Amino acid sequence: MLPSTSPSYFTAALLLVGKTVAHSQRRYIDNSSGTPETVIPGASSYNGLNLVPQMGWNNWNAFHCDVSEDLLLSTAQSMIDLGLRDLGYNHLVLDDCWSIGRNSSGYLVADYVKFPSGMASIADRLHSMGYKFGMYSSAGVFTCGKYPGSLGYEQKDADLWASWGVDYLKYDNCFNQGQSGTPKLSFDRYNIMSQALNATGREIVYSMCNWGNDDPFDWAYTIANSGRMSGDIYDSFNRPDARCPCTSAIGCAWPGFHCSVMNILNKMAAITSRTMSGYFNDMDMLEVGNGGQTDSEYVVHFSMWAINSSPLLIGTNIPTLSAANLAILSNPAIIALNQDASAGAAVRKYQYLVDPDETGEGEIALWTRTLDNGDTVIALLNAANTTMIMNATMEDIFFDQATSGAYTTPPQLLATWDIYDLWANRMPEEEAAAIINGTAATIGFNSTSTTRYNATATSYAEGLANNNTALMGVKVGEIAPSGTFSAEVVRHSVGVYRLRAQAGIQMRKRDEL
Ligand code: GAL
Repeated sequence: MLPSTSPSYFTAALLLVGKTVAHSQRRYIDNSSGTPETVIPGASSYNGLNLVPQMGWNNWNAFHCDVSEDLLLSTAQSMIDLGLRDLGYNHLVLDDCWSIGRNSSGYLVADYVKFPSGMASIADRLHSMGYKFGMYSSAGVFTCGKYPGSLGYEQKDADLWASWGVDYLKYDNCFNQGQSGTPKLSFDRYNIMSQALNATGREIVYSMCNWGNDDPFDWAYTIANSGRMSGDIYDSFNRPDARCPCTSAIGCAWPGFHCSVMNILNKMAAITSRTMSGYFNDMDMLEVGNGGQTDSEYVVHFSMWAINSSPLLIGTNIPTLSAANLAILSNPAIIALNQDASAGAAVRKYQYLVDPDETGEGEIALWTRTLDNGDTVIALLNAANTTMIMNATMEDIFFDQATSGAYTTPPQLLATWDIYDLWANRMPEEEAAAIINGTAATIGFNSTSTTRYNATATSYAEGLANNNTALMGVKVGEIAPSGTFSAEVVRHSVGVYRLRAQAGIQMRKRDEL
C-alpha cells in the first residue's frame, strides 16, 4: 500500500468521501442521511498515478543497448534547452542493458562503467532538473537483452529502485518461463511486481510492456498505469513485415517486432474502450526523428498517438533533431489532446480501403474523440497513395452519441461547430532552428506565442480554458447540423481539427463510447 502521507492516497480518499467526485470516479449514492456513501468507486488509476498519459524520452529506439549516465544527463539538458521538458516530456526512461548482474545478496548491480556515479546520484540530478527517472526490467529470468530479469526477485528489485529514487518502471516480457498464454498467467506474473512497487511506499508509475500478449487491455488497469498493446514499433509508416504477423490486438499470440505505424494504429481501433484515466494503451515509443518516414508520415504518427492517449515517449537522439522534427514533437495543440483529462482513445468512425499501393495498406479513415470540455477532435487520415478530398459528416462525427441508448437526436447533432485546424500553427522551421541554435526567446506563463507553449508555467487545461491560440490552432470553418466538413489531405498525411460548439447549446461531456 502507499503510505498514508502520500498525496495521491489522500486525493483518492477524498474523492471517495467528498461530495464532489472527479469524472473518473462518478458513481456514488446519497443515502439521504446527509453523508454520501461511495458504493462503486469506478475505474480509475489503481495507484492514483498517471491520470493523463506519461510523456518523456526513452533511449531504446535510437540507442538500443548503448546507454550511459552521460546519455541520460545530456539528453535531459538538451530537452530543457529545446523546450521539450516544459511541453510535458518530463520522464527520462532508461531501457535495457543497464546492469551487470546480481550481488551475493541478490540485489541488481548497475554497470559502473556505463553509470559511474551510480543510479541514486543520477536520479537526484534528474530530479533537480525537473524530471522523473524511469527504470527498466523484465518479468522474466532475463531482460530481452539477456541481462538479469526480475522474475522471482520482484520485491528486492522494487525496493532497490525505490531506494535509488526511481519514479517509473517499464516492465518487459522476455524469458518469462512459459508463464504466459492465458490472461490469468500474465496477470499473476505482472501483479507480483505491481504489489512489490506499492509495498515500497514510493510513488512509481508502472508501465507494462508485454506487447499486448494475453490481451492486457482487458485486465491490466487494476494493476498498472499503461500497457503496450502491440509488438515493437519500427521506423516505417506502413511496410508489412512477417515478424509482426498480427493485424489485430485481440488474441495476438505472436506480437513480434517491426510493426509499422499503420499496423499499430489499426490495432487500436477495436480496443478504444479499454483506455482510461490511469491506464493507457501504449502504442510504443515515438520514431519521429529517426529518419525512416517522411515529414507528413511523422505528422500522422505523432497525431494519431496523441489523440489515442498513447504515452508520448520521444525515441530519438535529441541533440540531432532537425528543425522540422522538433516542430512536430513541439506542437502544443496536438499535445493538449493527448494530455486532455478525458483520457480516452479515439474512435475510428470509418475506414475505406482505397487505391491499395504496393504495400497493400492504402486506406482513408476518420477518427474522432470527445474531449473533457465538450470539444470534439476529428482526424482525417489519408494513408492512401494520392491526394484525397476527405469528408466528415455530422452523422459520422456524432454516430456514437446518436446510437447510444435512446436513439434520439443528441444535442451535438443540433449544434453548429467552429472548426480549428490544429496543424495550422505548426512552428515554422526558422523558429525551430532558432530554438536549436539557442537564439529563441524563452516561453513563460504570459506567452502570446501562437506556436510555442510552456506547460510547466500554464497547464494545458488552463491554456484551453483561456483559448490560448497555441492550443486552439486556426479557425478554418464551421459545420452546421446535417453539414459535412471536407478537406484536401495529401498522401500519407492527416488533418486534425478541434470542433467547438457555438454558444447556446447544452452539451453532455464524455458520452462517446
Ligand atoms: C522489447 C521492448 C522494447 C525494448 C526492448 C529491450 O521487448 O518491447 O521496447 O524495451 O525489449 O530489449
